[in-house]
Amino acid sequence: MNFSGKKVLVTGGTRGIGRAAVEAFLRAGARVAVNGGSEKSVAKTLAELAAGGSAVGVAGDLGLVADCRRVVEGAIDKLGGLDVLVNNAGVGGPSAPIDDITEDEWNATLNINLRAVFFCMKYAVPRLRAAKGNVVNVASILGLAGRGSGLSLYCASKAGVVNLTRDLACELAPDIRVNCVCPGAVDTEMLQETGRDLGKGDLAAGYALLTKNRPMKRVAHPSEIANAILYLASDYASFVTGSIHAVDGGVMAKVG
Ligand SMILES: NC(=O)c1ccc[n+]([C@@H]2O[C@H](COP(=O)([O-])OP(=O)(O)OC[C@H]3O[C@@H](n4cnc5c(N)ncnc54)[C@H](OP(=O)(O)O)[C@@H]3O)[C@@H](O)[C@H]2O)c1
Repeated sequence: MNFSGKKVLVTGGTRGIGRAAVEAFLRAGARVAVNGGSEKSVAKTLAELAAGGSAVGVAGDLGLVADCRRVVEGAIDKLGGLDVLVNNAGVGGPSAPIDDITEDEWNATLNINLRAVFFCMKYAVPRLRAAKGNVVNVASILGLAGRGSGLSLYCASKAGVVNLTRDLACELAPDIRVNCVCPGAVDTEMLQETGRDLGKGDLAAGYALLTKNRPMKRVAHPSEIANAILYLASDYASFVTGSIHAVDGGVMAKVG
């Protein structure tokens, strides 16, 4: 895929899936603005990126609407425009039954996982419209189905991203395409804690337990999600909008 001359903002680009997307866009010739929650994490990422010359940093806490605006406007300013917005930043939220979940936890989870997706899009839309650009949102298979394992806020936030994608794809067509990737389990810091807990300290054993009933019997590498993000952002997907892509090793294909 060729993204030469394209300007891309990846939120949550400092590690995990976002970092893999940043690296893939850079390899494909794009100029990339990397967001993360702190100046320190963004500076560390830029220093580590081999192609750091084509990457710029836009730190900001996307749990705050003011920072959503500052990050998007900062990216447009530093890149000289915007063709692709990848709304990837997210948190796992509390793992607890409804009885124990607080209003503060609701706000902290929904603000970054859902509200930030809306406001980053809102502030990016004028430039994306001018560029005939597109948006790729990163939700989760837990936005397509529940699990009953104490992740209700995460599930609600990601379901919100799924239907926000559909509605804004209709509203913004034909100028801006809007699509969504729903990963299954991916080997990132977000999942590693769960994996270690399951495996009683042994991550590989935890992943084996987690995936033993799943068709592909393994977790994904972050680059496998990045590949789907790049496809949706590319001209190969020129007639694709409002679509929800499960990249989950077949989990959503299976009942029971
Ligand atoms: N891993 C999985 O199994 C999985 C499965 C389905 C969906 N997902 C989704 O994929 C996306 C990426 O997840 P991941 O697994 O790559 O997570 P991760 O390794 O924990 O990375 C999270 C990224 O989000 C950024 N971030 C978190 N809070 C932020 C905030 N308030 N403002 C700005 N940036 C913030 C982090 O940046 P800093 O560290 O710099 O703050 C980091 O770059 C998330 O939306 C997640 O829900 C993950």
